Amino acid sequence: MANVELFTLNNGIKMPAIGYGTWRAPDEEIERALNLALEAGYRHIDCAPVYLNEKVIGKVLKEWIDAGKVKREDLFITTKLPHHGNNAESVEKNLKKSLSDLSLTYIDLYLIHVPFGFSETADGPMREPNGDIVLDLSTDHVAIWKKFEEFVGAGLIKSIGVSNFNKRQLQRILDNATIKPVSLQIELHVYFQQNELVDFCKANNIVVTAYSPLGSKGIANLYKQSGKELDIPDLLDIPEVKSIATRLGKTPAQILLKWIVKRGVAAIPKSTNANRLQQNLSIFDFDLTAGDMETMKGLNRDIRIVTFDFFQGIQKHPEFPFK
Ligand SMILES: NC(=O)c1ccc[n+]([C@@H]2O[C@H](COP(=O)([O-])OP(=O)(O)OC[C@H]3O[C@@H](n4cnc5c(N)ncnc54)[C@H](OP(=O)(O)O)[C@@H]3O)[C@@H](O)[C@H]2O)c1
Repeated sequence: MANVELFTLNNGIKMPAIGYGTWRAPDEEIERALNLALEAGYRHIDCAPVYLNEKVIGKVLKEWIDAGKVKREDLFITTKLPHHGNNAESVEKNLKKSLSDLSLTYIDLYLIHVPFGFSETADGPMREPNGDIVLDLSTDHVAIWKKFEEFVGAGLIKSIGVSNFNKRQLQRILDNATIKPVSLQIELHVYFQQNELVDFCKANNIVVTAYSPLGSKGIANLYKQSGKELDIPDLLDIPEVKSIATRLGKTPAQILLKWIVKRGVAAIPKSTNANRLQQNLSIFDFDLTAGDMETMKGLNRDIRIVTFDFFQGIQKHPEFPFK
């Protein structure tokens, strides 16, 4: 089993530097793949109610814990407050639903998934007759954060953080927090290096977690479904990355992930393929040289892949973070 590096969060809790991403993995696929991931040694699992698979993830976790194959305290489970419940009044309901679906009594890390909010119905986001999501323009991060702090006090959450927040939004949380965020989860990869946010988080003792660290190739379908064509770059085909991989006898994915973790940033790659999910975790038995790190740094192109454009009109929300 892979020997995975642990990052210490600002509250002293340890988080495995590589986690397992679960977005766009339907039930049958994730049930099989999560078993493989746990066998490979993943203990940090990144979940979210909007990925629509928390129940089956909970089923697998319960089977592993009940069978004594893993101890609850050895797992680090992240989940998130959904976009359609992004207000203080909805925190309790959504947190308790995730706890129930994941078959857990506490969440290791609870994140505000996105800084913007959608109006809610009993079945999820409220929609216009044409299917567009109705925005909730009243999103108040500090009010949500105070609720998060309450549930840390109540023992239902160990650590709290945010995702997709920009520097101004994160600073506002820091200015008003009793409990500091331990992590900022953002898109980060070799073509989108996020140097300013990484430096800001380091200065504030917040661990950055990189989502879509391999470039989220499958996201092209999501854009297509909402009528948008986006040319998604293939990070696994970058000549400089391939050349380092060949020299070290590793795969391009392993080089992309090693470069992230060596920057002190955690990464949560998603794969439902046995071989690929294993290689993504096996990055702790080799190193990159200072020259390799410089080469990778020079590849930045500031290309954001997860723009949230698949939510029609999302830029109109006052807290849309990427203006
Ligand atoms: N907070 C947020 O708003 C947010 C947004 C996006 C993602 N996330 C989280 O971050 C996780 C990862 O991001 P992501 O799913 O967008 O993209 P990603 O991990 O960058 O890329 C996943 C894609 O890469 C392929 N892949 C994985 N390992 C590979 C390897 N070793 N070699 C070649 N191809 C490989 C996967 O295919 P196979 O499955 O076929 O291997 C899949 O198509 C998500 O699952 C989710 O948990 C969070």
